[in-house]
Amino acid sequence: MLAVLEAPLPANRYFPVDLVPLASHPAILRLGEPVQRQVRARHLLRYLHFTRALEIGTVNRVVEEMCFPNRSMGLWERLPAETQQHVANEAYSIYREEAEHALEAHKLLGDIEAQSGVRWDRRERPTRLNLLNQRIAAEVDPQRGFLLLFGFVCVSETLVTQTLCRLPTDPKLLPSVRKFAADHARDEARHARFFSALFAQVWQVLNDSEREFLGRELVGFLRMFGQLDSESIAAELDEYGFSRTERDTLVQDLGVVSSGRLRQEAARALRMFQEAGVFLNPSLRADFVAAGLLDPS
Ligand SMILES: [Fe+2]
Ligand SMILES: [Fe+2]
Repeated sequence: MLAVLEAPLPANRYFPVDLVPLASHPAILRLGEPVQRQVRARHLLRYLHFTRALEIGTVNRVVEEMCFPNRSMGLWERLPAETQQHVANEAYSIYREEAEHALEAHKLLGDIEAQSGVRWDRRERPTRLNLLNQRIAAEVDPQRGFLLLFGFVCVSETLVTQTLCRLPTDPKLLPSVRKFAADHARDEARHARFFSALFAQVWQVLNDSEREFLGRELVGFLRMFGQLDSESIAAELDEYGFSRTERDTLVQDLGVVSSGRLRQEAARALRMFQEAGVFLNPSLRADFVAAGLLDPS
């Protein structure tokens, strides 16, 4: 059932339509502006929820290890002493900034809920983070589990998503949404430089078997970021009154992010792997070529 809104904003105040795959689907377009508004408000809420979950539950788990090593089990200690000091110093700033991003996402989420009349369930676990946590849980060696977490965070900190690029400059969006994205993008540009350099330094001190292990996961991490939050979108479609079959077909239509768009968003992450020397290993390079993320040489 649709919520009754007191002062409904146009849908384009919440999110640009071309960044919301569900909003452009003919089955949704047919339902008109009230549903279009809800779809785009929900997309914004999903994005804000993902941001607060990623920052607190994933990125800061790695940053915490830089401040108080535990599960990293000697990984940082293999780095030169001056690098260890630099990493520890930066880690405190990054920890605070990521917590601020989560706080700002949390506050904005509350404002959008109040304004749009759409409620968000904060217990929801974004698909990408579920996939990561399942992969880590399947790893028996805790140091390798940490390497997975570290690799995923290096990818997430160097992806330049269309969302983060576009939101600050779209004049139709709510000013609070634009400001949130602009502030976040500014900090993330610095984090990307830090994590790119750290990834290269860590790659140098990994042994061959660790490089092979982590290297095999990198394409999978990039692909995780192309995943839709299918369960969340299916529950949303239930609210709009679609039958189970219509709902499942629609979710299937949305698919995953194309390898072309993923390659574009991952350009900086791919450069990080290149600079670290990941592609010097022909079989790791072949994984990226097979995934359409690198051209065959
Ligand atoms: Fe952040
Ligand atoms: Fe960050």
